[in-house]
Amino acid sequence: MGGARKRAVLRGWAGYRGELPPGVGADQSADMVRLARERLCSLAHIRRHDLDEPLTWAGDASFDIVLLALVLHYTHDRVRTLPELARVLRPGGRIIISTSHPTADWLTDGGSYFDARHVEESWSGCMTHRYWRQPLEAWFAEFTSAGLAVDRIIEHQPAHSMTRHHPTEYEKPAHQPGFIAFQLHKQPGAPDPRPDQSRFPASECRPCKPARRSS
Ligand SMILES: C[S@@+](CC[C@H](N)C(=O)[O-])C[C@H]1O[C@@H](n2cnc3c(N)ncnc32)[C@H](O)[C@@H]1O
Repeated sequence: MGGARKRAVLRGWAGYRGELPPGVGADQSADMVRLARERLCSLAHIRRHDLDEPLTWAGDASFDIVLLALVLHYTHDRVRTLPELARVLRPGGRIIISTSHPTADWLTDGGSYFDARHVEESWSGCMTHRYWRQPLEAWFAEFTSAGLAVDRIIEHQPAHSMTRHHPTEYEKPAHQPGFIAFQLHKQPGAPDPRPDQSRFPASECRPCKPARRSS
């Protein structure tokens, strides 16, 4: 999804009518940080951060939306990471997490559906893909122990229009979910300070190429 479309979706989630304030993006990889800065500099402050470490640069309740797109299953200590995400989320805000679908991991890795363990796969190009697999109830248990409640789950399915142009590729994801997304909110009782939009002034942006506006 391109920058503008992603922001339109985020604006809907956050309930904003106008433009979103600049966001903050993070990845542990220097290459991903560089690419994201090239594409998004005017829209977001991008920083290098390992999610296994505390978000020391982010204040309590300072974000309206926290989006983790296909990253949580790579972290080592979700029991520490999730409460950090809950801490920086304002009450009424939303955390959106997409991850590998537990049944897809089970079908790929084998064993019991209820196994919870690190998986190593060999990908073409001599790449090793390492991630954490666990059953759905374990994801829920980690969310709730971090003070988060699940509003909604999406099990992604391909658009029907794909049958016209990519009928072969359509078949598998139409019957076997590959990914799952959770929308979470902080359970009541958390403090509600307003987000501090001045934390990352635009002047911190490095000179960069103009952000792409279409997907
Ligand atoms: C499948 S890619 C998703 C990239 C991006 N979120 C997207 O949706 O296009 C996984 C990303 O997670 C990052 N990652 C893995 N472990 C991480 C960690 N502990 N902290 C921060 N980023 C991590 C990797 O560097 C990689 O860029």
